[in-house]
Amino acid sequence: MINTGDDKINKIPATLIDGDGIGPEITEATINVLDALKAPFEWTRFKAGLAAMEESGDVLPKPMLDNIRETKLALKAPLTTPVGEGFRSATVRLREEFNLYANVRPAQTFIPGGRFEDIDLILIRENTEGLYVGVEHYIPVDGDPRAVASASGIMTRAGCKRIAEFTFDYALRHGRKKVTVVHKANILKKLTGLFLDTALEVGKPYADKLEIEERIVDNTAMQLVINPSQFDIILTSNMFGDILSDEIAGLIGGLGLAPGGNIGPDVAIFEAVHGSAPDIAGKGIANPTAMLLASAMMLEHVNEHDKAKQLRRTIRTVLNEDNVRTGDLGGSATTIEYAEAIIKRLS
Ligand code: NAI
Ligand code: MG
Repeated sequence: MINTGDDKINKIPATLIDGDGIGPEITEATINVLDALKAPFEWTRFKAGLAAMEESGDVLPKPMLDNIRETKLALKAPLTTPVGEGFRSATVRLREEFNLYANVRPAQTFIPGGRFEDIDLILIRENTEGLYVGVEHYIPVDGDPRAVASASGIMTRAGCKRIAEFTFDYALRHGRKKVTVVHKANILKKLTGLFLDTALEVGKPYADKLEIEERIVDNTAMQLVINPSQFDIILTSNMFGDILSDEIAGLIGGLGLAPGGNIGPDVAIFEAVHGSAPDIAGKGIANPTAMLLASAMMLEHVNEHDKAKQLRRTIRTVLNEDNVRTGDLGGSATTIEYAEAIIKRLS
């Protein structure tokens, strides 16, 4: 167990999930920065993913799941999922295990001078239903066992209702003005039609406080790169949210700057939007900012708003005034050098 923060303040027990690929590198950097920030978390640290598979035979070891059940709060590094055959995504399983139905992905400009200035939009993705439920099978034809592949998407009215309620409440709590419901109900009439109809129905009592509109996903994808400022909060289903949130990350300089929170009725798990980046793992050059910004969301979740603001402010200062940046942002700093620059500003 690692103690962080000032011993005099009340500690908040939290689970730390190490991850694969660049996971351990960005986790180390993040923990050191949170220490310097005197963040009130008391961590219990676990390996998950491939490293845990080698040690305990499961990508999600039971002691880690038990710990999350106790703390109800976790910070998670990315986990590798093999493409095609092999185990199901540990990240997806975690979302199912704790019913983390809301995935909140904010995108804010941190480095001015990009294609767009002052981007500040939030994508809220339904995290447990739709085409990602994993109901897939092959149909053999003429001796070919994989002649046909079939997948089912599953949406429930209850699932659509709770994500819509979460989103409209979130919008009001955070002083937002507009929610765009993104769907493909012109083609997937039932699957995404239920999502759209339910969201609009749930939105009715909010209509005097929020502008609520709907948009088809492909048009949204184009509009996002032409004029992102027309959006404020985007509410969408699982797969569309997965794809559009990476697109939104691209608007603000890439995945290295995009955090996310997975929120359920009891448990909240914060993480970067990006994956384990095997192409740069072990080189010490990964950008830890997304995981740091996920920690800022986690601080807000436990009502440590001042610390969250201080962290974000310091990241801006280091990126733009000190000009210390990792390679993905055009700089030459290593993960550790970048973290050190933040720590220097904090102390
Ligand atoms: P990825 O997000 O890991 O990488 C995409 C590209 O962005 C790569 O070129 C990578 O080097 C770069 N990149 C990502 N994070 C970066 C960072 N912090 N600093 C600098 N560059 C960064 O996506 P990819 O390659 O599709 O997936 C790799 C693995 O990660 C797969 O096994 C995938 O299943 C898993 N994954 C896990 C997620 C999670 O645990 N939440 C989310 C997305 C993918
Ligand atoms: Mg994704």
